[in-house]
Amino acid sequence: MNQITIPLRGGVKLLSQIPWAFDCLRWILEAGYRQHRNLLSQHFRQSPLRVLDCGCGTGIYSSFFPSHSYVGIDISPTYVDRARACFPKHCFRVMDATQLEFPDNAFDAVIVSGVVHHLDTATTQVVLKEISRVLQPKGTLLIWEDVPTRHSLNFVGRIIHRLDVGEYIRPEIDYAKLLSDYFFIESTESFRSGFMDYAAFRARSLA
Ligand SMILES: C[S@@+](CC[C@H](N)C(=O)[O-])C[C@H]1O[C@@H](n2cnc3c(N)ncnc32)[C@H](O)[C@@H]1O
Repeated sequence: MNQITIPLRGGVKLLSQIPWAFDCLRWILEAGYRQHRNLLSQHFRQSPLRVLDCGCGTGIYSSFFPSHSYVGIDISPTYVDRARACFPKHCFRVMDATQLEFPDNAFDAVIVSGVVHHLDTATTQVVLKEISRVLQPKGTLLIWEDVPTRHSLNFVGRIIHRLDVGEYIRPEIDYAKLLSDYFFIESTESFRSGFMDYAAFRARSLA
């Protein structure tokens, strides 16, 4: 099996470096991100005044928020270039989430979509600590992450997870444990987006 998955994973890694191709593939696999948009509408009935999209990738959720209230950051200059080209009115910056270049309490809301499953535990802890620093005390963190495929017959989802460049796909409980060191979890939900299974958490700072 590894003889097949290793070259395929290499292919996926290459594809992930071509942002438009990766976007198209994800759009198909995740049914046009309908569920993610539902989640955003459900949790942000009113747009937050200042929102940080941490690990924004190509900025696919930026259009949900007014341009004046949104900042997207990502460590990848290639993704940030694509985000700027697609959403020229929104603000995107190349930045490492382990060292956020924002003052304390700078945001009313932070969204994190599919970032932590790329990060080991130590890095995740630093990122969550940084998010809790820049999020104002009553602010909202909305985070959703890939979890292991829930239905044994979801073969496509299982194959994608084997090929995913995210090395740290965790069960829901593990994400909850990581979050609870820095945040109070207000709600948890499970959802399926196309072939992919997710756990979503709404949380507030412990401070
Ligand atoms: C699966 S993509 C998700 C992108 C976007 N949030 C979305 O849902 O389309 C994971 C993103 O996390 C970014 N990332 C990984 N480590 C990061 C870090 N330390 N700081 C900022 N971004 C990071 C990657 O560059 C990548 O764009």
